[in-house]
Amino acid sequence: MDGATPYGWLPDGALLTQGDTLRWVGPMSGLPADLRGHITDEVDLGDRLVTPGLIDAHTHLVYAGDRAREFERRLQGATYEEIARAGGGIRSTVAATRAASEDELLALALARARQLLAEGVTTLEIKSGYGLDADTEARCLRVARRVGSALGVTVRSTSLGAHALPPEYDGRPDDYIDAVAAWLPAQAAAGLLDAVDVFCDTIGFTPAQTRRVFDAARALGLPVKLHAEQLSNQEGAALAAGYGALSCDHIEHLSASGIAAMAQAGTVAMLLPTAYYFLRDTHLPPVQALREAGVPIAVASDHNPGSSPGLSLLLAMNMACTLFRLTPEEALAGTTVHAARALGLQATHGRLAAGCRADFVAWNLNHPAELSYWFGHRPAQRVVLGGRSVSN
Ligand code: NIG
Ligand code: FE
Repeated sequence: MDGATPYGWLPDGALLTQGDTLRWVGPMSGLPADLRGHITDEVDLGDRLVTPGLIDAHTHLVYAGDRAREFERRLQGATYEEIARAGGGIRSTVAATRAASEDELLALALARARQLLAEGVTTLEIKSGYGLDADTEARCLRVARRVGSALGVTVRSTSLGAHALPPEYDGRPDDYIDAVAAWLPAQAAAGLLDAVDVFCDTIGFTPAQTRRVFDAARALGLPVKLHAEQLSNQEGAALAAGYGALSCDHIEHLSASGIAAMAQAGTVAMLLPTAYYFLRDTHLPPVQALREAGVPIAVASDHNPGSSPGLSLLLAMNMACTLFRLTPEEALAGTTVHAARALGLQATHGRLAAGCRADFVAWNLNHPAELSYWFGHRPAQRVVLGGRSVSN
């Protein structure tokens, strides 16, 4: 994915791994003789296409319960926003999550992460945000860490305490924001945080409240990201870019000034087409303007029970192409090199290059465009995590 040739595609390639790291990548014929002598184990991947392990850089994987009844209500005419305002939506998942033990939440999250891994996802971001009290938020963040250690996948965990207003703070959103900011130091001290996120929107929090959470994150040296301009334009993306945000996510209603601020800050545009699809949104994100401004574009599953209950990053890539008109090459960059950037992992993840982590997938496919073309299938033949094959 280096941009030198379409997809950076290298025919007849070879990879040398050492421990969990890629030692050398290049054409088979160019394998240096001094390294060749040290090869202890050789695997012929045949004619298969090999890509970096996929990166799902926006998920809400830790929660209990489901929202199938809400789905029914939406089919009877209620909107996502109406359900949220009536106390359903995120709040109903919060009630189920608070009632679940850490081990129950872990079992649910592990089953979801295994589905992603089988599809070829070797790195994922997991947000809290269905606890909304100090104990449950910490429990969800611990579960995120435990998913990483149990499966050997790279997990980045993000605090999304500012996801929705919990019922005990009804009418007091500013007090709740104070509480969210006050939890961060303990979560950080416990080693549970890689980033901090806020849902800035009509049914989330205001730009001023977002700023207060971001100030608390900055005081701890933590990077920020934002659920921005999903249902309306709050100029959240420009605000987040002002804090050097890793990514702005959803961004269907992103403005020209938001794009300019993101380009300036190097903030990644995170497209979540399965949420757009599942909420039957019709307001397209400004993909062409993002391209022209040189903003790196990523694609993620946004797995969550309310707006995106799917567990397929390949389906998100397909929808990024069909619904948002990304090219298959952009969709693959969006789940590898640009997704790594959205997690601050660009030096080690999302590319096949010496020094990067040896996470890669051998696919039963001939051309990389097929990754975005087929849907509802499982083309991964072999998934390699840190140099070790986990399936074939
Ligand atoms: O990314 N936008 C806010 N958060 C989630 C949905 C959460 C839910 O409905 O449970 C999202 O789409
Ligand atoms: Fe989300």
